[in-house]
Amino acid sequence: MEVETEDKPPGSPLIRDFDIGNYLANYNFFLKYEGVNPTGTQKDRISKKHVENAIEKGYETISVATCGNYGASIAYYARAMGIKAVVGIPSEYSNSRYAEIAAYGAEVIEKPLKYEEMVEHIRDQADRNGWYDASPGSQNKDIDIAGYSEIAYEIYDQLGFAPDYVSVPVGNGTTMYGIYYGFLKLMRSGRSDKIPSFIGASTAGGNPVVYSFMNGFRRIVELDQNSIVETHSNEPLIAYRSYDGQRALDALYKTNGKASYVSDEEMVNMSRGFREIDHLSVLPASASAAVTALKYAADNICVIVLTGSDK
Ligand SMILES: Cc1ncc(COP(=O)(O)O)c(C=O)c1O
Repeated sequence: MEVETEDKPPGSPLIRDFDIGNYLANYNFFLKYEGVNPTGTQKDRISKKHVENAIEKGYETISVATCGNYGASIAYYARAMGIKAVVGIPSEYSNSRYAEIAAYGAEVIEKPLKYEEMVEHIRDQADRNGWYDASPGSQNKDIDIAGYSEIAYEIYDQLGFAPDYVSVPVGNGTTMYGIYYGFLKLMRSGRSDKIPSFIGASTAGGNPVVYSFMNGFRRIVELDQNSIVETHSNEPLIAYRSYDGQRALDALYKTNGKASYVSDEEMVNMSRGFREIDHLSVLPASASAAVTALKYAADNICVIVLTGSDK
């Protein structure tokens, strides 16, 4: 299958739920809908920058370990800008993005490893083979913060002010920390008079950031590998190690934030509501951030970061 790719910068609308349906219309919620990006998620924010950085530094191959979304995004931009992508996916992941990744011409490495093991495996392969590694926690990870900060700048420009809360789905914690950092820069430069409080949503199957926050720990803890439970819905969020977990945890404390686990059923129901009432396609894992927004920010101005789903 041949697919079209385009070297297009990501960027997303801020939608007042009130304007598209009545699903969450009784609340002051704004949807930062990353589903419009070329591969439908916020990962496009960082993938384009990683591919550009790889090319600038003279690499011919870019690698990434992924649960699916990030791999699709790196493969897309690698194709659009003309370098090779190697994408490592744990074979037990049931996600639907394999075909898309292959269609972008990426080499797919599938192995019976946990996600975190795949991150280590790909990093090792990148070192041996001279690839640029874009996996979480790699030496190139500062790019992630620059990419996700742009979500904060867009929110600020679209609203005209900083909201009370920003609710974000959490896996490695990178997206949350990057948005926090963007607001921090806006405040330090004198543009914004405040940083929103952050709300972290993750899977009841287990996540170090939410677990550590709920238990009042200031230092992030890793979870027991055997205690985490992967399902079709929670794959982007489930983790025993969060690569930017400490920074996300700090952001939660510094902004007087909130965090909680969300069940698969709650995510799926929320996603269904967006689809049936708002006619908006939202990945269930991402819809977790709307569940936590309702839980903690029902009386406030809250921006919910959402990604798309073709299901
Ligand atoms: C759709 C979606 N939402 C949220 C996340 C979690 O983001 P982060 O790992 O930056 O916390 C991911 C990560 O893969 C994702 O694909």
